[in-house]
Amino acid sequence: MLPQKYKALSDEVAVEKIAVAKKKLGDKIMILGHHYQRDEVLQFADRVGDSLYLSKEAAKSSAEYIIFCGVYFMAETADMVTSNAQKVILPDITAGCPMADMAPIGEVKKAWSDLEVLGMANDFVPVTYINSSADVKAFCGRCGGYVCTSANAKMVLEKLINDGKRIFFFPDRYLSTNTGRTIGIDATLWERARDNGGLGEEEIASAKILAWNGYCPVHAKFSTQDIDDLRERYPEIKIIVHPEVPEQVAKKADLMGSTSFIVQQIEDASAGSVWGIGTEVHLVNRLVKKNPDKKIFIIGKLSCVCSTMNRISPQNLLWVLESLTDGRIENQVSVSENVKVDALKALDRMYELS
Ligand code: 13P
Ligand code: SF4
Repeated sequence: MLPQKYKALSDEVAVEKIAVAKKKLGDKIMILGHHYQRDEVLQFADRVGDSLYLSKEAAKSSAEYIIFCGVYFMAETADMVTSNAQKVILPDITAGCPMADMAPIGEVKKAWSDLEVLGMANDFVPVTYINSSADVKAFCGRCGGYVCTSANAKMVLEKLINDGKRIFFFPDRYLSTNTGRTIGIDATLWERARDNGGLGEEEIASAKILAWNGYCPVHAKFSTQDIDDLRERYPEIKIIVHPEVPEQVAKKADLMGSTSFIVQQIEDASAGSVWGIGTEVHLVNRLVKKNPDKKIFIIGKLSCVCSTMNRISPQNLLWVLESLTDGRIENQVSVSENVKVDALKALDRMYELS
């Protein structure tokens, strides 16, 4: 729990003090920041990026402490790719990802044993989005499976399909359906199948991609009507979305890709171009500020905020940094050795591809 003396600080004061604590800690720390983080926090990040990039930066770092301004699964991944001597800290330990929570390990194992009963488990390779628990990654690692991120999902799925494999994808139904579509495959929703009296053996037997029924509550808010409205007002507009958006929304977009892909496309766009972006609002607002020569809109009227990511505040960042200067570690995220060993198998299979 954030101590009262930090809660009472204004953002301005906390920001001033973070600068002092960060200087004191020097090379001992590396601060990683995801694109959805708020600006007051992100200004202190040594590296800013998407989940794939940040996991690679964590792996490269020799800092004693990695301060992850992101969400829980990102910090867990960082812990798994760093040495045992390094410690990973999440400034607010409750900053989770609701989508990752939609695939509890018990339910994932139950689904797999349903496949085993049908004698079909060996036909499938489990693939989990990096937005998942370390336990789910470890399960995939044990079963010969992969992790993927939004930046390399197409690469991972395409490789497996080209190798003649079939895929059980956790937990994001939209990432799997949207990515499947880009390689010409319709994913089959696992739960829908089971609710209908058990997908039917034939449906499972013919499915190339089975999709777990998880989704991101932030990206699920975007609608096709929002895109139609923007296109009506700006016929020349280009729509770019994150692959976590619902499939009907993705179908109406011109471009789809990870947060870093979105940043790159907007940075490379010509002056005067008009863009509608379907991703988290902190990133969109930052792109608006950084690209005054382009017209940029967030798709839709609802404010799509990742509220858990934004639990990382200047106050709790300051708390974990000042604690380190006092020799205390707060909010360490640590994955047990046996889980780490298996999860790394699935992570390493992904890193080998991208
Ligand atoms: P990226 O991998 O594109 O950064 O996305 C992570 C995420 O959680 C998006 O909601
Ligand atoms: Fe999870 Fe969605 Fe937040 Fe990404 S935006 S961290 S998927 S809740």
